[in-house]
Amino acid sequence: MERIIITGALGQIGTELTLKLRERYGEENVLPTDIKEPEDEQLKGKPFEILDVRDMDRLKEIAATFKPDTIMHMAALLSATCEKDPQLAWDINMGGLVNALELSREFSLQFFTPSSIGAFGPSTPKENTPQVTVQRPTTMYGVNKVAGELLCDYYFEKFGVDTRGLRFPGLISHVKEPGGGTTDYAVEIYFEAIRTGRYTSYIDKDTNMDMMYMDDAIDATIKLMEADASRLEDRNAFNVTAMSINPEMVANEIRKHIPAFEVDYDVDPVRQGIAESWPNVIDASHAVRQWDFEPKYNLAKMTEIMLEAIRNK
Ligand SMILES: NC(=O)c1ccc[n+]([C@@H]2O[C@H](COP(=O)([O-])OP(=O)(O)OC[C@H]3O[C@@H](n4cnc5c(N)ncnc54)[C@H](O)[C@@H]3O)[C@@H](O)[C@H]2O)c1
Repeated sequence: MERIIITGALGQIGTELTLKLRERYGEENVLPTDIKEPEDEQLKGKPFEILDVRDMDRLKEIAATFKPDTIMHMAALLSATCEKDPQLAWDINMGGLVNALELSREFSLQFFTPSSIGAFGPSTPKENTPQVTVQRPTTMYGVNKVAGELLCDYYFEKFGVDTRGLRFPGLISHVKEPGGGTTDYAVEIYFEAIRTGRYTSYIDKDTNMDMMYMDDAIDATIKLMEADASRLEDRNAFNVTAMSINPEMVANEIRKHIPAFEVDYDVDPVRQGIAESWPNVIDASHAVRQWDFEPKYNLAKMTEIMLEAIRNK
């Protein structure tokens, strides 16, 4: 991994991934792309290309000029957004993925894309969800993610493309607001704690989902991409998680810093339904064994950092 194109680079993950990769590999070796122009001060005025991942000609044009050895494919619609327009979700999530994989085949690129805990469904075991298990999701997002996981495996087996990927849990960060996922509450709650001292949660108080602080997600991504290929038995869609939490747990942790913080509940049936179809806690032991996955942030440490960073904004 030396010259890297990122698709969907202005999103919640892509923004921080771009900054971290630039720090590590040099600004000139990392090319963020997205369907819209950057607004973030840290990305403005730096190398950037407009790219709709459904446009294969443009993708090839950018690759022919930039000459990457790696593509990190982050462009996608997220779970709650997919349910609003499932046809568009298929078009972008599957169409974009096939294009990015085809580009990797043609230009011999190392390839990364995230799957999600959304690739599991109501019939998946909810506790200690294994790496390999029943995957019958009931959302368009989940259908896209399962198909994507299989497609990435196929491109490795059939064409020898060095595909790698993580099944991310909900990711929590203060740099960029989340883009329409079911776990967004876990970011919003921190912003509202600072802004107004109260939060109305659309997820019920005792609904557990896996989560991870963004720094751990970015570190895990880079670690997997740099891992010795001979150790990788699973390759794509590694289960990774740092904590299994619910809104009440987050609220209680925030109250240790802001005792008057108030939370009430106005449960959204769509997102609550999605959350209930996902695991409570997944088993990340394959990632630990095969490439030494080791998250550093638990709920207490993350809460401290989130509140301080948002307060300083
Ligand atoms: N954030 C999370 O909690 C989370 C959890 C699990 C998996 N993931 C996965 O990680 C990846 C990135 O997620 P994110 O949270 O950064 O999403 P996001 O919604 O914040 O960002 C996605 C980016 O893709 C761009 N985009 C949308 N349509 C596009 C198109 N046609 N062409 C090019 N760009 C387009 C958007 O402008 C946006 O900047 C996705 O595959 C997502 O499913 C995210």
